[in-house]
Amino acid sequence: MHIKEIFDGVYIIDNKLSTLNLVKGEKVYGEDLVNIEGKEYRLWNPNRSKLAAALSLGLKNFYIKKGSKVLYLGAATGTTCSHISDIVGREGIVFCVEISSIAMLKLVELCKKRENMIPILSDARITKNYDYVNNVDFIYEDVAARDQAAILKENAKMLKKGGYAYVAIKSQSISIVKQPREVYNEFIREVSDTFKLVEMIDISKFHKAHAFVVLKRL
Ligand SMILES: C[S@@+](CC[C@H](N)C(=O)[O-])C[C@H]1O[C@@H](n2cnc3c(N)ncnc32)[C@H](O)[C@@H]1O
Repeated sequence: MHIKEIFDGVYIIDNKLSTLNLVKGEKVYGEDLVNIEGKEYRLWNPNRSKLAAALSLGLKNFYIKKGSKVLYLGAATGTTCSHISDIVGREGIVFCVEISSIAMLKLVELCKKRENMIPILSDARITKNYDYVNNVDFIYEDVAARDQAAILKENAKMLKKGGYAYVAIKSQSISIVKQPREVYNEFIREVSDTFKLVEMIDISKFHKAHAFVVLKRL
């Protein structure tokens, strides 16, 4: 088996993206586990995770690493969060905000096994519910909501200056009449007083009418 580390904690094993499993023997969403020289890796499916899709399509600016502090908006049942949890390791932390109490039931079980993931049942618009979170290195937003730009700006006060935001934009959640490209550009414009665009990748090969953007906080 051929293994290569492409970013801190992100590996390619025989052309498949993967992360080092923080909790040996545990799968999160039915992904395959691969053992190499005593280490266990979890394959990371680009069809299940927009971050994996962006990485598979050549994302250049990936700075999440061991020890990073991440605020994750729209955690769902923890698919992508769990891979970020692998990357940041026990020295890091992932605050996982999710509005759905049904998704939260599963997320809480996952967080019990992964001590660096903290579940937060809240609407990401109401940041006072989790105002103990501050000075994070990264915000990851995947809320698929019409007011996604406003939600990101509201949460930006928790992001340290010069920190990065990774955002999955679902064009059809924002407008079903506008062209996806127009929706992406409007999103960038709307957050431009707080963030500078660093990179944008069309990930529609894996997720219909979605873009993945990297932003830097001004
Ligand atoms: C596309 S799913 C997220 C998938 C997840 N990020 C992953 O890759 O594993 C979007 C999630 O955002 C949540 N969501 C939508 N609006 C939200 C809000 N205002 N605050 C917090 N979560 C929200 C939904 O309940 C849903 O679970």
